[in-house]
Amino acid sequence: MLKNKYGFFSKDGREFVITDPKTPRPWFNYMWNENYAGLISHTGGGFSYLETPRDNRLTRMRYNCLPWDRPGRYVIVKDSESGKYWSLSWAPTIDKKYDLYECHHGQGYTTIITEKNKIRGEITYFVPTDLNGEIWKVKLTNLSSRKRKLEVYSFTELLMGNALNDIINQPNDKHFTDIHFNKEHETLLCTRRYWVLNRKVTVAQPNIDWRYNLLFTTTLPVSGFDGSLDNFIGRWRSEANPISVETGKMSNTEITAGDPIAALQSKITLDKKSEIEFAVIMFVVSKDEKNPFKASQLKQLKEIKTIDKKFEAVKKYWDDYLNNVKVSTPDNKFNLMLNVWNQYQAAVTFDMARNSGYYHGGLLFGTGMRDQFQDILGMVIAHPERVRKRLLNALRFQFKDGSTLHNFFKITEWGEKTNHSDTPLWIPFGIVEYLNESADFSILDEVVKFYDEGEATVYEHLKLAVDFAISSCTERGLPKIMNGDWNDTLDHIGPKGKGETVWGAFFLGYILKKSFELLEFRNDSETLESWKAKYEQLRTVINDICWDGKWYLRAFRDDGSEVGSQKHKQGKIFINSQSWAVISELAPKDRADSCLQSGKKYLLTPYGMQIVWPAYREIEDNTGLISRCVPGKKENGAVFNHASSWFVLASILNGDIEFAYDVYSRMIPLNSSKRIDRYEVEPYVYAEYVTSPEHKTENQASHSWLTGTAVWMYRIALDYILGFKTSLKGLTIDPHIPSSWKSFKAERNFRGKRIILSVENPNGKNTGIQSIEINGKSVESNFINPDDYSEKELNVKTVLK
Ligand code: GLC
Repeated sequence: MLKNKYGFFSKDGREFVITDPKTPRPWFNYMWNENYAGLISHTGGGFSYLETPRDNRLTRMRYNCLPWDRPGRYVIVKDSESGKYWSLSWAPTIDKKYDLYECHHGQGYTTIITEKNKIRGEITYFVPTDLNGEIWKVKLTNLSSRKRKLEVYSFTELLMGNALNDIINQPNDKHFTDIHFNKEHETLLCTRRYWVLNRKVTVAQPNIDWRYNLLFTTTLPVSGFDGSLDNFIGRWRSEANPISVETGKMSNTEITAGDPIAALQSKITLDKKSEIEFAVIMFVVSKDEKNPFKASQLKQLKEIKTIDKKFEAVKKYWDDYLNNVKVSTPDNKFNLMLNVWNQYQAAVTFDMARNSGYYHGGLLFGTGMRDQFQDILGMVIAHPERVRKRLLNALRFQFKDGSTLHNFFKITEWGEKTNHSDTPLWIPFGIVEYLNESADFSILDEVVKFYDEGEATVYEHLKLAVDFAISSCTERGLPKIMNGDWNDTLDHIGPKGKGETVWGAFFLGYILKKSFELLEFRNDSETLESWKAKYEQLRTVINDICWDGKWYLRAFRDDGSEVGSQKHKQGKIFINSQSWAVISELAPKDRADSCLQSGKKYLLTPYGMQIVWPAYREIEDNTGLISRCVPGKKENGAVFNHASSWFVLASILNGDIEFAYDVYSRMIPLNSSKRIDRYEVEPYVYAEYVTSPEHKTENQASHSWLTGTAVWMYRIALDYILGFKTSLKGLTIDPHIPSSWKSFKAERNFRGKRIILSVENPNGKNTGIQSIEINGKSVESNFINPDDYSEKELNVKTVLK
């Protein structure tokens, strides 16, 4: 069984089950649809929002706070006879001993099961596919042999508006809240009379209405309510011991000013051995709806059978989503990641960007351009139409000269132009990957406006991004690093505008090469010729001046001094210059071997490859933030999983497949989190980084969930290890597996077909397909154009020779 001391994966891999709530950190999950989202910890903590976590936050979660994940979505049960009360999610009443505690994090839902005082509670939190809201479905079972009189308190702390403003201006903000109880529908109707939609932190308070009503209700009859945090909790108390729960008396406060909460009380009687099902429902409707109860069909929504149907729809959604890829290899952990958690995490990064998590609080980043053009890599397989929409939307944040905003916020459509040199180049990356999957060439002729002025087709947007990058090279032909590149913390290399990025040169080369097939397809020979010339020029200049003897340099400063050389005391070797030298195909074979060998020698740790070595211990103002970060963490020498995954890819491409798989496998969370009390974060998803041996907290991980690692680990496995390599024309079958795999099977949907691959490896090879058999007929090449087949299923068989 795949497990650690706090929990285990269910047999089918679909749930991670936490059995001890005292995990080293809150372990989160997500529940969401295209508009509404929430994160939920294994103790019921977390926040919810509509569309964007900064400007339209619905519920609060406190930052910089202990306990870590307060508040959340709580249902507290009280035995009216004994006066004892406890939470169905363990928090916030955590000092109580439970007879049973289990948190089941599944796809799009979290169920917490508890047994305490002979009452079994099962609470399932989920966001329906078709509601701007969330449901907490509860089942209570009386395990005792006597009748029980219980009180049920459900509550959450509301925010309703701009979460950043809520932190900096709450004493004023709270004068705009309005919560009233509607008796007929037994529902709290909550709103705020203004909405801060400022693009930045400012004292200006705009004169705008928060456009929604938030409804908080339960399917149980309501015996009391509260809209006031102060009254519900009471003086000098906390969520752990609200006065209203302790006394059983709700203050029934409707607020027109004050800190908003939604709290409801219900009283129930449970016969011995009997059970009851109910639900708490919270959702938003537009204020334009004069009768929000009718508009939301509240009566019907409150029926348990409607709720069950909605939950079934969520489950079905995820069954379908995960069904796009199925693998069965000799490595259980690899299978578990590919079949469930890695696919799932890729869906999370697609919708959350780096912008709504426990580590990324949703106040700063918005949606990153660079990030989102990578984060499509998972979703594109399941829902290419969503990716199409996403790409068309993102291109609106490009300028007519080809440059782009670095990030942007939904609703306000504001963002920052940070001048990171690589950001625009992720545009062609994402578009080509979309085309590789979908062959939907019609997108290229869609017209999209620029952020400044004018408009152009998607194809022109793509070319402008590349031409902008080409025009941003120095005289000797290397890209200027500007304010940084993929590595955000190399931000003081070129403040005078002359510093150059060597990784960026490889990346530009890679993007040029990746675009050639598309340019040919468009018969755009003029561009093709000039981009090919640039590619060759990069090859020359890189190999003339960026080679350090055993590996490639990382950058040149404004004054021409080098970054990432063996001459230096710190920051001698950077991972990305080595991996991308190979990925871009710009390194000659001997140098490819040597730079990867050096990476292997200096950067390998038990958890993956570290990003740079040795970490910076002395501050280098003319390098950047990297040197201010503690050694061994973050960009300063951690195992930065995103970059580590690229080294895996490079090793595969360079033929070192055993090593690549070794690193891949070290990075799988269940492997890198073996010392879970040190590792701390969720063992079911990738974290942004794991502390390297350069820091005394070696192996501590952080920034789980929201990392580009998710899509890259997923696609490196699918495209290169299992060998479904997509291109504009179709699919090439070309596995790169550990020699110990005697065989494997993998299935993938592709352009309306199901490709079912089975590979035999009797002679213990790593790679090498000569021919394949499709639906019983042998085919000379390993390339498949799905359009050549009328069958829905293509059974592909092959043997590694
Ligand atoms: C974070 C950022 C990403 C950046 C990386 C390395 O993950 O979201 O854009 O490339 O850090 O600095």
